[in-house]
Formats: sequence, C-alpha cells, structure tokens
Amino acid sequence: MSNIKVSFENTGLDKEELMKYSEQVEQAHDELHNVADDENEFVGWLHLPTNYDKEEFERIKKSAEKIKKDSEVFLVIGIGGSYLGARAVIESLTNTFYNLLPNRKTPQIFFVGNNISPNYINDLLECIGNKDISINVISKSGTTTEPAIAFRIFREFLESKYGIDEARRRIYITTDKEKGALKKLANEEEYETFVIPDNIGGRYSVLTAVGLLPIAVAGIDIDKLMFGAKTAEDKYNEKTVKYNECYQYAVTRNILDKRGKTTEILVNYEPKMQYFTEWWKQLYGESEGKDHKGIFPAGAMFTTDLHSLGQYIQDGKRNLFETVISIEEPETDIKIKKDADNVDGLNFVADKTMDYVNKKAMEGTIEAHISGGVPNILITLKKLDAEALGELIYFFELACGISGKILGVNPFNQPGVEAYKKNMFRLLGKPGYES
Ligand code: PA5
Repeated sequence: MSNIKVSFENTGLDKEELMKYSEQVEQAHDELHNVADDENEFVGWLHLPTNYDKEEFERIKKSAEKIKKDSEVFLVIGIGGSYLGARAVIESLTNTFYNLLPNRKTPQIFFVGNNISPNYINDLLECIGNKDISINVISKSGTTTEPAIAFRIFREFLESKYGIDEARRRIYITTDKEKGALKKLANEEEYETFVIPDNIGGRYSVLTAVGLLPIAVAGIDIDKLMFGAKTAEDKYNEKTVKYNECYQYAVTRNILDKRGKTTEILVNYEPKMQYFTEWWKQLYGESEGKDHKGIFPAGAMFTTDLHSLGQYIQDGKRNLFETVISIEEPETDIKIKKDADNVDGLNFVADKTMDYVNKKAMEGTIEAHISGGVPNILITLKKLDAEALGELIYFFELACGISGKILGVNPFNQPGVEAYKKNMFRLLGKPGYES
C-alpha cells in the first residue's frame, strides 16, 4: 500500500498541458530503463530496491549491531551525497533531540568531514571526550578533501585511544569496490568495507551502504526503508504520464520553470525533516543545475520560516513555486488545554491538537501563497516512518532522473563541482594543480 498522494490542483495547470509531454516522458522512461543494469551508466538506483546486494545488507545489520554494543558515539565522515541521505533519514525518524536522549540504546551520531572548519572538529572532540567511538568513512572517490582531513584526524584519535588493532575494528569504510585511496587503505588495514556501486552516484546512494549503515546504527529498520522504496519502484513503473504521479511532478516543475517559476521551494511543517530538504536540494541542484539551466532548489521550514522568508514568498519576486510535504498522521500529538483566564487569548484553539493547528496553518499558507502567485504542489505522506520515507526517497530520485531528461541535461554528472576544487588545490600547492 502506497503512502504517497500528490495533488496538482493548485499549480494552475490542467492535465491537458501535462499530456503534451507524454512522448518526452516515455522516451525519458525508456532511456532510464534501457540502461538500468549497465555498469557504465549511473542508473543503478532504478532497480536497487529489488536488486540490492542481500549479502552486504546482512553484513550492514551485523556491523550496526556491533557498533551499537561497543560504541557510545558513531561518527559519519562524508560530504554531499556521502552523508546527506543518512542524515536526512536519521533525523526524520528519530527523536528531534536524538543525541541528547538519556538512557540510550543506540550511539550518539555526529556527522563530520562535511566542512573544513577547525572549530567544528575541536568542538566535536570536546563532546566525544572519553566515550567509546566507532567511525564510518564514506567516500566514493576516496580522495575528497573534507572527509580525508577528518579521517586523518579521527583515525589518529582512535589509534591513540585504542591502539592500532582495536582501532581497526572500529573503523568502517564505504567506498568504491576496487578503486581509490580509501579502498587501498581499507585493504591494507583490513577494515570492514562496504561498497558504493559503480553505477550509483553519491546523491542517489542513500539506499546503498552509504546511507544504510548509519541509518541501521540509529536503530531504524532498514528492511522497512527498502520495502517502502520497492513499493515506489513498483508504483511508479508506469511510463504513461497520465497514470504516474511521479512523472507528473517531473513534468509540472518543468512547465512551471518555462513560465518563469525558476525556484522551487520544498516546504515542510515538520522540523525533523530539515535534512530531508537538504538531501532533496542536493539531489535536484546537482542533477539539474548545468548548461545554464535548472530550477533552483530552495527549502523552507514552516511555520518557522513564515516569520523570516514568508514576506518574500508572499510578496517578493514572482519566480517561485512551492512543493509542500504534509504528513497526514502525526507520530505524536498534544491537546491544547482550556485556560479559565484566557489571558493569552488562545482559547479559540482550546481542545484542538497541535497537529490540527499546524495543518490549519498549512492550509491557510497554501491559500495565501496561491493567491500571491505561487503555484503549489502538495505531497501528502501518510505517516513519517521508515516505509513511507523509503517510498518518498525513491519518488524524488525517479522524478529527478525524468525531470533532468525533460530539461535536456545529464542528471547524473556534476562537472561544476570540480571548479572550486581545482582553484583550492592550486592555492594550496597540490602537485599537478600549479597552473
Ligand atoms: O552526489 C555526488 O556525487 C557528490 O555530492 C559526492 O557525493 C560528494 O562530492 C562526495 O564525493 P565522494 O563520495 O567521492 O567523497
């Protein structure tokens, strides 16, 4: 049973307009499906919920159990597609204050190697103190500067805390199956190693070991996550745009882009999903922003940002559209009590729940933004659990592949990411980058 419903009622477009893209969508669908199992194309994520490596999946669960038993802190070292997916799922599905929870059954989880701030590392070292720790270094290339610096620091930290042999048992590597500096080191040191498949790019890799090991360490049911993704793989396999809401999303955003709505804001009313938005921003930004094309992916957390970005969205430059994620059944709720004095004037919501108020805020905001000229796509997720999130992840990945193809770009490369690296390496005097 699917957990996702999408409404295009408030986009200002009718189905006829979407149907004009039927041929293009079918072609994009075929282009993806024809190379889904090709090692040299980056479409390995398409059948991943069916084809994932079951042996490795069990090894991930076993390692997660070991880490849960012997570690109070688990560090996830990676950047971009090598950390955002894990963080998105973990933060969406655990307690909002996960790392502060007393009486823990699972380790505190910190993400590092996603910036070059010395403060970040020093502050983290202070937090870790004497706690028992394991680390997972995630890098497909094995040479990315940010995680490489963090790994150098934390490898030394582990080796001086535990000695070389025990440190080896606490270092987990997720990287290419045969290439790269990290793979070489993992072989030499005999670290437990997991594979990022050749045909899956970083931002499409959350359902591989890249995301699954940290997610399992957080105590999240990765079987359910994969099951949800499989539900979406089956549901959105229909190539006719008329019957496929995922493809309708891809087409709608392309039509809106052509009409000058060049920024899409992914809106959430659940703070736990902040990093889901960050994951989505990378997925769409790196996939579509090239050849001077692409919808700019922005994010907003409501109602919080209604008190910061709200003014602009309602009344600023009219190049925006919103995709709102609404969660139908809240995980928990709170009833607002009646107050006899009513000094705060809040009795008009007495006996209502906070989720009810949040939903009314959403409905009121959607109405206001539509009347302000901001088209709206509404994605309703039945609940926020592993199964539903697995489905939503696949929905966005597939829509992104199709949308990029409709836009006329290659949604699976990221040539623009190299420009800053080349300059940085030249400025740092890295051999080979002198000119
Ligand atoms: O999506 C991508 O491909 C990128 O964001 C990469 O994940 C990111 O640059 C990190 O690369 P690597 O895993 O090689 O360290």
